[in-house]
Parts: sequence; structure tokens; C-alpha cells
Amino acid sequence: MRILITGGAGFIGSNYVQYVLNQHPTDEVVVLDKLTYAGNLENLSPVERNPRYHFVQGDVCDATLVDRLVKRMDAVVHFAAESHVDRSIQDPSSFVRTNVLGTQVLLDACRKAGGIRLHHISTDEVYGSLGTDGAFTELTSYDPRSPYSASKAGSDFLVRAAWHTHGLPVTISNCSNNYGPYQFPEKFIPLFVTNLLKNKKVPLYGDGMNIRDWIYVEDHCKGVDLVLRKGKLGETYCFGGRSERTNAELTRLILFEMGFGKEMVEMVKDRPGHDRRYAIDPTKAETELGWKPETPFLYGLRKTIDWYRQNEDWWRNIKSGEYLASDEQRYEAGESFVVSGKSSVARGSL
Ligand code: NAD
Ligand code: TYD
Repeated sequence: MRILITGGAGFIGSNYVQYVLNQHPTDEVVVLDKLTYAGNLENLSPVERNPRYHFVQGDVCDATLVDRLVKRMDAVVHFAAESHVDRSIQDPSSFVRTNVLGTQVLLDACRKAGGIRLHHISTDEVYGSLGTDGAFTELTSYDPRSPYSASKAGSDFLVRAAWHTHGLPVTISNCSNNYGPYQFPEKFIPLFVTNLLKNKKVPLYGDGMNIRDWIYVEDHCKGVDLVLRKGKLGETYCFGGRSERTNAELTRLILFEMGFGKEMVEMVKDRPGHDRRYAIDPTKAETELGWKPETPFLYGLRKTIDWYRQNEDWWRNIKSGEYLASDEQRYEAGESFVVSGKSSVARGSL
């Protein structure tokens, strides 16, 4: 199979490229990636000499380019997106452009090429915020609350519309928070780990009691691949790690694993509209696809910390700011809500 992987130079996409090339010895992969601040060709260096891997730098909103690529493919796996909630609070429009318009450009290309199979990668954040009980399933109503999740919800609806209206062979998966190698150090785990490796404090938002359901990236990649090859067309599959933690609990774990104490935590002003809890019930994927989240959380976390320890050049380059355009440097080291020393100390503590 020849697969177009959009966003393949990002965190999950690059893990998926490596997964496909390792697991399917006759598959060919074409990565389409704009190489935004989050895309990095170093993420693909393990496969750069593989003759079954090809890279095209380009924008998923460029219909001419996308049409040309898609018609030569058997399938498209669509990861490309603006992915960071904090950035979406500052600049919603770029999220609408890439996440909504970019997805429609791909759907149009798949249709024009005669009905190319497309798997769309989405997030549990489209379902909104949970209270203390329950978990999201494929049947949960959408209730996105950040510009990021709203733009992902929009893209999901367009994919569903392409199935119902045009009969395009599509599937969608909605996954919980991923962690693992190659994650850009603006997200919680890599930000905290790399800050600590630099002896820098970690910024914990609000009271630290928000809950996320963590999944090791390779488990997500396995799920995506199963849906692509065995999923029922027109269906949605939810993936999660069955591993809920409060941010405070996760912070304590990271500090402990890395040999630091709570003096390294800075309680900072909360993210506006911060969703309280996400959790996925992945029963459908488990029963219909035989999938399960295999990586125990502590094992995955240790592997991830080790990866950042051993790949210092990769993240130091990014965190030094050389890698980023100057207007993006305020996000570096997660300083977006630590406003020049005025960050309010939140109620909770570690
Ligand atoms: P990421 O930000 O690390 O990577 C996104 C990639 O898309 C980058 O390589 C970037 O260069 C590329 N890209 C951005 N705009 C583009 C454009 N206009 N044209 C072409 N390429 C473009 O993101 P990620 O964490 O790997 O997430 C990948 C997908 O998975 C996203 O769709 C995201 O919504 C979804 N998702 C992520 C998580 C998570 O925890 N990270 C969880 C569930 C779902
Ligand atoms: P993040 O990795 O941005 O993922 P998402 O917002 O998509 O779930 O954040 C995970 C959680 O960690 C979320 O509740 C916000 C919190 N957080 C902090 O407390 N401090 C930080 O510096 C960041 C980036 C996130």
C-alpha cells in the first residue's frame, strides 16, 4: 500500500511513519508536511535512507499539490494540524485554516481521485470537559470549548459529511493525550522533563487538579494502523490509555523519577477555559479491533524521560530558540501564561 501521511514530521505522525515502515515491509510512505515550528525533519532521521520513504514539504491547504499527491496513493492518514491549545488561544485563525480548510482540501482530493481511503486523526477534546464521573465514547455528543478543539470538531464533521454525502471511504479516531519520543517541548510532559534537565522550574497551571488520560504514542500508532486496515468505513474509534492522572500527580511522578523536589514547581495562572477532565472509554476499539493500550504508564514515562535525556541535541536546539521564529519564542519553555513574574499563585499545591 502507498500511504500519504500528512503531518508526518510532527510528534505522532513521525512515530507513525516509523511504525508503518517497520511493520509493513512492502508499504511505501509519502510524508506531506509544511514543517511549521512543530515539524522537524530530525524526527524522521531514523527512516531518511529507507527507499520506501519520501518527503514532500508543502501545505495541506495547497489544493494543487494535494490533488497531485493524493491521486497516486492508496490511502491517506491525516495527522497534519495545529495542535497546541495554548497557541489556539492566542491565534485561533491559523487553527481554522489548517485544521478545517486543510481537511476539506484533502477530502476533495480523495473524492476527485475516485474515492481514496482516508483516515482522519482527531482528539478526545472535541467531546468537551468531564466532571468526576464517566468517560467519552464514540457516542458522546461534541462540545468543544477551545479554538483548537472547535477546529478539530469542525474537521471531524467534514469527514463525517464526506462519508454520508459522497460515500468517501473514511474513518476517524479520537485519542486522548499522547506522550513519548519526539513530542515538541511545549506540551506538558516534554516541557516539564526538558525544563528539569535544564534545572528550570516547571509551570503548573491553576490548581493542578485537571485530569488527562495518558497514552503512549506507540499504542496510539498501533490503533491508527488497525483502523486503517481493519476499521469499518464511516466509523469512529476512540483510543485512550486507561490511565488518568491529575496534572499535580503527574508532576510529582516526573519530579520523583528525575530526582527533584516540589521546590521546582511554579504554580502559575490557569489556562483560560481550561477543560477539567478528559477520559476515554476505548471498549469499542478493544472489542472490534482487538486493540488495547499496552504500555504501562510508569514504564512509558520512564522510557520517555530516558529518550529526552539521550536526545539532548534534539530538544536543546528547539529550546534554544534558534529553531523558532522570534515571535514564537514566547511559547518556548511554556512561558505563555507565566506573564513576566506576575503569574498568580494558584490555590492548589503539590
Ligand atoms: P504536532 O504539532 O507535533 O505535529 C503537527 C505536524 O503537522 C507538524 O509536523 C507540522 O509541521 C504539520 N503541519 C501543521 N500545519 C500544516 C499544514 N498546513 N500543512 C502540512 N503540514 C502541517 O502534532 P501531534 O501532537 O503529532 O498531533 C498530530 C495529530 O494528532 C493532530 O491532528 C492532533 O490534533 C491529533 N492528536 C494529538 C494528540 C496529542 O496528545 N498530541 C492527541 C489526540 C489527537
Ligand atoms: P497539554 O500538554 O497542553 O495538552 P492538552 O491541553 O491538549 O490536554 O496540557 C496537558 C495538561 O497540562 C493540561 O491540563 C494543561 C496542563 N499544563 C500545565 O499545567 N502546564 C503547562 O506548562 C502545560 C503546557 C500544560
